[in-house]
Amino acid sequence: MSSRGLAVLSRSAIADVLGSGRRLLVQGAMGLHSSDGLAGKVAAARSGRFACVGTISGVCKTPEMLRAELRRARAEAPGGYVGVNLMAAINHEDFADLARVSIEEGASFVVQGAGISREIVRWCREAGTPFAGIVSSGRLAAMYEKWGAEFLVAEGAEAGGHIGDIELPLASLVEEVLDHSSLPVVAAGGVDGKDIARYLAMGVAGVQLATRFIACSDGDAHPVFKEMHLGKDDQDVVVITSCVKGMKARAVRNAFTDALAAGEHFPPRSKAWFFGSAGYRGRRKPCIECLAQGICKCQGSGFRESFCIQDALLRAVKLGDTRSGLFYTGQSVTRIPEQSIAELKSVQELVSDIEDGLAQWEQLHGSLSSLPDGGHRTGAVGSPGSRSGSRCGDGASGTRLRKGASTL
Ligand SMILES: Cc1cc2nc3c(=O)[nH]c(=O)nc-3n(C[C@H](O)[C@H](O)[C@H](O)COP(=O)(O)O)c2cc1C
Repeated sequence: MSSRGLAVLSRSAIADVLGSGRRLLVQGAMGLHSSDGLAGKVAAARSGRFACVGTISGVCKTPEMLRAELRRARAEAPGGYVGVNLMAAINHEDFADLARVSIEEGASFVVQGAGISREIVRWCREAGTPFAGIVSSGRLAAMYEKWGAEFLVAEGAEAGGHIGDIELPLASLVEEVLDHSSLPVVAAGGVDGKDIARYLAMGVAGVQLATRFIACSDGDAHPVFKEMHLGKDDQDVVVITSCVKGMKARAVRNAFTDALAAGEHFPPRSKAWFFGSAGYRGRRKPCIECLAQGICKCQGSGFRESFCIQDALLRAVKLGDTRSGLFYTGQSVTRIPEQSIAELKSVQELVSDIEDGLAQWEQLHGSLSSLPDGGHRTGAVGSPGSRSGSRCGDGASGTRLRKGASTL
């Protein structure tokens, strides 16, 4: 544990976790406040099989908001693993300030999503904060390893929110990333309780789930946001074109996504209701310039095309506005078994369910720990590419994720 209160999730710390027979269970960050309140609870969850890791989304928080969220998580999970997710696609001044706050507050790691900045890798290295990269290809994985990342999150096409140019289904991506890098890899995108063991058997250090954690009782998201994740099938999930560089993004279908599909545009509105009259960091116009220069299609078109992402996401998460809110989600939303808010489980209950799912898988396929090297690549420094025993049962390469019933 670091003297700053949170444990450092470095490459060697991950090797220690794996060496103890456990894996990483990471809660993926969810931007614009969808994952607020979850990180500390996940990091504090008790598990014999997993080291549980929370991730706070730093994106479009003020530095004060991020600091408060990190302190809350640290108080809930002293000595636990809580990282911060940042994206180079956001306003550069905000990006730099939020990175500084993450480092000052002793985040367990900083993980970079959309957009690639080499600066942040350097800032982290200089401060001794582990850096992780989210990758959608083996090429990117190799690049981040060269730059000094401590671990990677391989995010497959089934993921939620911005999926950009991610084309590979997760199983294929995991194969590719493991082949291109010796770093510990966390598999993310459409994973649910039934899939976890299959990915672990492929040789990853752990799995990351985000969508599943929205539908639990602990997070701060508006109850309507959680409800929008219940009882969904394939027809309820759409891929939209975001204002962020025109990237593809996955969301729950509603009146807003239908309007976007019909070509409507939604210029920014005042955000005083959320940020107060002083605005976001003193920026009081409806457009608070949340994205890096030249990235926002809405701003770039003089607000005559696309939509304001701050308005749409905040309205969903904070107001539960089902007409004009944008409810980002992942493909695994169709496999959430709970049907009502009253049935939602706590983070601790979800983690226990995940452990039960793993035990059930092992009953059918054999123990993960009986695989050579425990079925994982140790990721230990000095053992590049030491993947062994990384294939097992139905975790074979090229596996497509099954849609349908799940225990989780
Ligand atoms: C509502 C929502 C918001 C998200 N926001 C972010 C984000 O701000 N930054 C990021 O890197 N990933 C973001 N993601 C992706 C998740 O962190 C996660 O990696 C991905 O969705 C895969 O997990 P899942 O399929 O279990 O959701 C978001 C996902 C969702 C569902």
